[in-house]
Amino acid sequence: MCPVEDLPPGTVKLVHAGQITVGVYNLGGKYCAIEDRCSHDDGPLCEGEFDAEEGYAICPRHGAHIDICSGRPLTLPAVLPVETFPVRVDEGLVKVDLS
Ligand code: FES
Repeated sequence: MCPVEDLPPGTVKLVHAGQITVGVYNLGGKYCAIEDRCSHDDGPLCEGEFDAEEGYAICPRHGAHIDICSGRPLTLPAVLPVETFPVRVDEGLVKVDLS
């Protein structure tokens, strides 16, 4: 997907794959990926603010907090989980398994 240098701690990158978009986060050296679609009303979840220390994204549409690594909603109005994807680092590249 991209070299590790392009995704330093505290940053996110959007990856487009077919019909879906995924946000890949570096949370202090831990990589997690979550679909860029809020479970509440399809808001562009990964295009809003996020808290890299606490590990949650804030939906820009209605403000739900979503745990980036588990996809679990932490606050209303979202109640359903958001899809997550495994991330690994392979030979200096960050790779997301979208299958
Ligand atoms: S669409 Fe995300 S909180 Fe409503």
